[in-house]
Amino acid sequence: MKGFVSGLPKVELHLHIEGTLEPELMFALAQKNGIALPYDSVEAVRAAYEFDDLQSFLDLYYQGAQVLRTEQDFYDLTYAYLLRCKEEHVIHTEIFFDPQTHTDTGIAFDTVISGIHRALSDGEAKLGISSQLIMCFLRHLSEDAAIETLQQALLHKDKIIAVGLDSSEQGHPPEKFQRVFEMARDAGFLTVAHAGEEGPPENIINAIELLKVSRIDHGVRCTDDSHLVEQLAATNMPLTVCPLSNTKLKVFSDMSEHNIVELLDKGVQVTINSDDPAYFGGYMNANFMAIATTFDLPKQRLAQFTRNAIDASFIDEVAKAKLHERLNHYLDVQFKPVI
Ligand code: ADE
Ligand code: ZN
Repeated sequence: MKGFVSGLPKVELHLHIEGTLEPELMFALAQKNGIALPYDSVEAVRAAYEFDDLQSFLDLYYQGAQVLRTEQDFYDLTYAYLLRCKEEHVIHTEIFFDPQTHTDTGIAFDTVISGIHRALSDGEAKLGISSQLIMCFLRHLSEDAAIETLQQALLHKDKIIAVGLDSSEQGHPPEKFQRVFEMARDAGFLTVAHAGEEGPPENIINAIELLKVSRIDHGVRCTDDSHLVEQLAATNMPLTVCPLSNTKLKVFSDMSEHNIVELLDKGVQVTINSDDPAYFGGYMNANFMAIATTFDLPKQRLAQFTRNAIDASFIDEVAKAKLHERLNHYLDVQFKPVI
């Protein structure tokens, strides 16, 4: 199974680039940029990664991101992730970035997006990994702050496919951002939103109805509302599920409690993703393996997660067909009868 998962062509749709900051790079950047960290070793950073809930993670995540200061820092962070993608046979990735985390401490929007975008271009040219970029609004900040961020993004429309919504779900429901999402859609951006990670199913419903999202990020709390699950399946609304994140942040107390296979069985378009792999103990292969081993899933069933991700991605139909071809070729070789 490990070999099958490792070689399986994968598509990632839920990945925060700031969440790929490994402690080694965090230390190196802190030293280069003269930033004090509240840890004295890489081991101490890793030891601090025990979370009670989403907020306890976000506090460390925003602190860690402060070591990123220059265009080259954002390039190095992004290219390191793409090298990991290459190693793990991730062939297409759609990446979130949180500009407000950086602009609020004086880093220019241009610096952030230029570094990330240059790495994505190199990733395509040198590693053959295609990608899209999604800009997230931090939902614990105000609607006005989101509008200001959208205005900055308009100067980089060619580099951004969609806007999203992340950070603390509790107390910051989708309706707080209805107007800025409408402005974003009018400007030509697609939309996604984190909803039903810790928050109730109503957040999923409102993200769909008010923010007009094309995908729900996480969405696992949908099973609290059986009618909603039926609706998600009937409308082919993709969920970008992140198994290791959900157990690390105690959304589920154990992987055996996870509902991704139940949702797959009910016909919901679920996908497997890594969210913040440097913080949650694993990239795509580890997330696939966690589900494969916990639920003893057959290989063909596991491949359905990639099929769903290709269909849910923000690329054109020709590009989707090419990814399906690569997946089918891999499966043909894997299941070719030995004669
Ligand atoms: N930002 C980074 N990871 C996140 C998550 N899992 N939920 C909400 N906001 C996030
Ligand atoms: Zn996320």
